[in-house]
Amino acid sequence: MESDSSISTAPILAEGSTATIYEWKDETVLKLFKQRSSWHTNEIASTKVAHDLGLPVPRVCSGLLEIGQQEGIMFERVDGPTMADFLEDHPTEVEHCAIIAADLQSRMHSMEIANLPLLTDLLSWSIHQTNPLETKTIKLVEDILAQLPAREFLCHCDFYPRNLLMSPQGPMIIDWAIGTRGNPTADLARTWLISRLLLDTEKEPDGKDMHWQRFWDTFFRRYEKLNPSCFDQFLQWQIVVATASLVWDKSLTSMDSRLSFINTALSDSEHPWLRA
Ligand SMILES: Nc1ncnc2c1ncn2[C@@H]1O[C@H](COP(=O)(O)OP(=O)(O)OP(=O)(O)O)[C@@H](O)[C@H]1O
Ligand SMILES: [Mg+2]
Repeated sequence: MESDSSISTAPILAEGSTATIYEWKDETVLKLFKQRSSWHTNEIASTKVAHDLGLPVPRVCSGLLEIGQQEGIMFERVDGPTMADFLEDHPTEVEHCAIIAADLQSRMHSMEIANLPLLTDLLSWSIHQTNPLETKTIKLVEDILAQLPAREFLCHCDFYPRNLLMSPQGPMIIDWAIGTRGNPTADLARTWLISRLLLDTEKEPDGKDMHWQRFWDTFFRRYEKLNPSCFDQFLQWQIVVATASLVWDKSLTSMDSRLSFINTALSDSEHPWLRA
């Protein structure tokens, strides 16, 4: 396609962990993936589902593109920083942003859908992949997952401030690679896990990370206010998503802290991550 030659001159907007994002023509961006993956068609499908449901999500402007050996997708361009970058510059907005993020995830979780892969299938598949846990531990996690209700609501599975763009019209949700159909509590547990890993890895000696602690405290309190039963079976989902994350998020540091969390939580013992 014409993109092959234009790519060398297109300005880079951002460098993500899975893709480079180029500023493209007609108010679009090109997300050019570093590796090929069958999940890229899912990113197209789930972004479209969310957009068509009326959620603030960029429009998908192409099918799966082949650019040289690489795969890419064109999206509507959103003007504005990520919520994470915005908060680094505007720490006084922490509570306000936490509330709008929780409202948005809660709104997404009210949407029942009929298509997209089932999150429980994805979790079950992931738990079976080469996993650093002992076989008997994996069996315990499988048994927990089998008891949990699958449900059929829109889930993002990577919902946190780096995947929210602060457009002039309000926050927009991007990066729907693992958009699925599932139980909102599972998706909330994914957000919790990401928050825990970020809080552990972004600790700063000058206490600058305190606003992130405040962000997450406010976020979960607000989400609970909107969905009072959201923490039912939360521990079970925490264990399941932490186990799946050992396969999904290999690039994230703190593999050890996730292993320790899973083993401790399964033995009903105290763990610092459970104290909040
Ligand atoms: N539609 C868009 N409009 C404007 N900027 C965008 C758009 N989509 C992505 N970006 C920019 O590119 C960055 C990375 O995008 P995205 O999160 O989709 O990529 P990724 O490789 O999956 O990222 P991650 O590092 O989260 O794994 C975003 O933080 C944002 O700055
Ligand atoms: Mg992202």
